[in-house]
Amino acid sequence: MTAERVALPPNSTIGIIGGGQLGRMSAMAAARLGYRCHILTPEADSPAAQVSSAVTIGAYDDPVAIRAFAEAVDVITFEFENVSAAGLDLLAELKPVHPSPAILRVSQDRVVEKSFINGAGAPSAPWAPVDTLAELQESVRDLGLPAVLKTTRLGYDGRGQAVLRDAEDVAAAWERLGPKPLILEGFVDFACELSVIVARGADGAMVAFDVVENRHRNHVLDITLAPARVASSVAEAARLTACRIAGALRLVGLLAVEMFVDRDGHILVNELAPRPHNSGHWTIDACPVSQFEMHIRAVAGLPLPPAWRHSDAVMKNMVGPEEMALWPAVLATPGLIPHLYGKAEARAGRKMGHVTRLFGKGALPGEFGVAAALGPLGAAPPISI
Ligand SMILES: Nc1ncnc2c1ncn2[C@@H]1O[C@H](COP(=O)(O)OP(=O)(O)O)[C@@H](O)[C@H]1O
Ligand SMILES: [Mg+2]
Repeated sequence: MTAERVALPPNSTIGIIGGGQLGRMSAMAAARLGYRCHILTPEADSPAAQVSSAVTIGAYDDPVAIRAFAEAVDVITFEFENVSAAGLDLLAELKPVHPSPAILRVSQDRVVEKSFINGAGAPSAPWAPVDTLAELQESVRDLGLPAVLKTTRLGYDGRGQAVLRDAEDVAAAWERLGPKPLILEGFVDFACELSVIVARGADGAMVAFDVVENRHRNHVLDITLAPARVASSVAEAARLTACRIAGALRLVGLLAVEMFVDRDGHILVNELAPRPHNSGHWTIDACPVSQFEMHIRAVAGLPLPPAWRHSDAVMKNMVGPEEMALWPAVLATPGLIPHLYGKAEARAGRKMGHVTRLFGKGALPGEFGVAAALGPLGAAPPISI
């Protein structure tokens, strides 16, 4: 049975857990729909709070901070999913929470997540839970090498991961990542990485943005190409997979599904993020309704318009002090649409902002054209995926 959609009236306050750029861009979209946002974050000067009407500064599991935050808002959502079980339970007691804490629990733990994905009928790389060195050795025998060892919890931007290429790597990777709960995954020799962002309302209505292609550098998303340059059958399979998972989760909100396409054109799901996603930033400039507006609409019970795209797009992240140093050159380059997140300090590996470049539909440039289209940011070292 599907629930009723109840529209949150204008001037209501949406509580967002997390103070990063995803919260910032969600709050900017919410403001355009006439909502106020209130941020819960441990950070004193956060990108999201800079553009919101209120902030509670406190830890995500601090009951005093959670109560003060919940008291001040009408509905609660997330831009960050690693809230403790106790924190989630308390939030859910106090105010409506979308997506539900149950969905966050799935996405917080790679073993629970992979079990859920496979249980929903979507394939992934072969995987095994690993809690001891002996289990790791046994799983390496079962899955073969190369393989990727990951912490089950709290990994992001490639942190908490080790690629095992030969037998000598096994003990060293255990030294580095153990004795925490881990997961071993078969290494996917992928043709490309895709993602799909889907929104689902309380009434079960679902819309999915076009499938995009993602390229990482140093395990951090570098470039997104919209649409993905894959066969339409692959794009359709990716979109159906994402919708199937969102339905199985009974999602209310936004879900990003990261996937690999293997050399035979098969889709393997990599991970889920029940929130706006870096690979959807292009939607701000290339779609009438961005992923951030779709997120707010789903959480606020508003209608979900089609996730229509009016342009092709290339999105490039600006990471760390090296790329931040190019900001004046970015501003001086016609055609680059700049987005900066308001972070005071450009630390190595930190996402500081992004740029989007738009093209007519069907006019996305080829391999060499992508670098040229990015002007000063295209001169970065060759893209490694
Ligand atoms: N099993 C795998 N096979 C091949 N590459 C992988 C595998 N798992 C992760 N990667 C690479 O590492 C990147 C980050 O891994 P991911 O599981 O998405 O963790 P996170 O984004 O949370 O850091 C992926 O986008 C992909 O490029
Ligand atoms: Mg990922």
